[in-house]
Amino acid sequence: MEVTIIKDNIKDIIADAIVVGIYEGIKSPGTDLTDIDKQSGGIISDMMDGDDFKGKEGETLLIYTLGKIPAKKILLLGLGKEENFEGDTIRKVIGKAVKQLEKSKTDRVAILTAGLDKAVSPEVLGQCIVEGAMLASYKFNKYKTDNDDDENNIKDIYIVIMDDSISDDINRGISIGSALADGTIIARDLVNEPSNILTPEAMADKAVEIAGKHGLEIEILEKKDIEKLGMGSFLGVTQGSDKPPKLIVIKYFGGDKGDEILGLVGKGLTFDSGGISIKPSSGMDEMKGDMGGAAAVLGAMNVIGVLKPKVNVIAVVGACENMPSGKAYKPGDILTTMDGKTIEVLNTDAEGRLVLIDCITYTLEQGATKLVDLATLTGACVVALGNTASALISNDDEFVERVKVAAGNAGEKVWQLPSYPEYKEQIKSDIADLKNTGGREAGTITAGLFLGEFVGENPWVHIDIAGTSMITNDKSGLVKGATGVGVRTLYHLAKSMEK
Ligand code: BES
Ligand code: MN
Ligand code: ZN
Repeated sequence: MEVTIIKDNIKDIIADAIVVGIYEGIKSPGTDLTDIDKQSGGIISDMMDGDDFKGKEGETLLIYTLGKIPAKKILLLGLGKEENFEGDTIRKVIGKAVKQLEKSKTDRVAILTAGLDKAVSPEVLGQCIVEGAMLASYKFNKYKTDNDDDENNIKDIYIVIMDDSISDDINRGISIGSALADGTIIARDLVNEPSNILTPEAMADKAVEIAGKHGLEIEILEKKDIEKLGMGSFLGVTQGSDKPPKLIVIKYFGGDKGDEILGLVGKGLTFDSGGISIKPSSGMDEMKGDMGGAAAVLGAMNVIGVLKPKVNVIAVVGACENMPSGKAYKPGDILTTMDGKTIEVLNTDAEGRLVLIDCITYTLEQGATKLVDLATLTGACVVALGNTASALISNDDEFVERVKVAAGNAGEKVWQLPSYPEYKEQIKSDIADLKNTGGREAGTITAGLFLGEFVGENPWVHIDIAGTSMITNDKSGLVKGATGVGVRTLYHLAKSMEK
């Protein structure tokens, strides 16, 4: 999909479809639209005046122009109430428009900016149109042998502007939006890929490819390196699997020496069977996506590689499988972490936190001064927040605010949970420093605070994406399957740390 600007008289636009945004309750076309309305025989004013189209957010009405203008179709697109309109509305409604138009063969789509340009700058307008369009047309069909890849895919999107003075700003937005969408799609592909294909080694290869493309420093630590570092907790999780673990480390220094270093840590379980505390078989297939945190971190590093913000970032991913076998770690085992703490394993299915804590210690050792970790960490998070919002746990009010703002810019919803010290009682072990589960109550909080035991005094935010990383039904601009959640939040966070 190619997105470009055109400055044409609307009635001369050569495209298969023209998308016209309309606010809820508006009953006649504004001055921007009178031309195209007249030319097309008053169809737009007729439809706006009637009951078939109300302008509700994401509502669509497809009109055939029957040769009255060069474009074959006009798509009326509801923008909702004008007072609620924001950047994220653009992503959502453009996503709806793209999905509607992909039902019939539509190669070239022109989007009128009239109305869409209300609450946002031209840059954000361009950015949100691209994000909305690219992310809505995403498909994961590489394993369908009878699938024509290009079938019903929009090839060109034209953003129609009236005023040349905003074209530079829109173009900048288009570049940013494409980078963000590309990074999100990298993450979606990784999450959708099954675990027989996306092994820890394949994930490391993908990281090498990303780093190579953008000249980022990369190191893949092998099992023997991980042993040398003393990552007993990470190794405990991986020991039941025949596939060797990989510790993926990517570094990007776009800021000055001595600036803060943002550490991004991702849970990279390419499959989580639960181990000896094995999961029930129903729904276990979803655990091929237990590397959504890692995918978000790698996708974000790709965005950072393209847009090159002036900040320093270290990304660390612990990639491995959690499997039962004669070599597997067992309930009751005690593991010693890289930083010397001991953990009593009460449930081998609470593996993500065991991988993450050694990754966190390593990231700090490498110089990170602020930390964000992302993980599909707890089923309790799905129960609490569903697939709408990710959960946040933090030790630092200022930093967690920053993450909330970044998520807001990304159009990704986050909700902070409390981190009262009382909850830590639940993860104290009788015979070791900590135990790896805090029981059923407040499972997302106790899992988060378990990680928090390893961050020292550094500002840290944990993002539990168990509910948001994959969805089981298409919803507002999101395609069923992986969402790529986190990529855009992480990029905006990194960008916000520029001096
Ligand atoms: N990967 C799962 C969490 C998960 C569940 C992610 C559903 C996505 C969808 C995690 O490793 C896990 O198994 N957590 C356990 C922890 C428990 C044993 C303390 C859980 O949430 O049940
Ligand atoms: Mn698990
Ligand atoms: Zn898991």
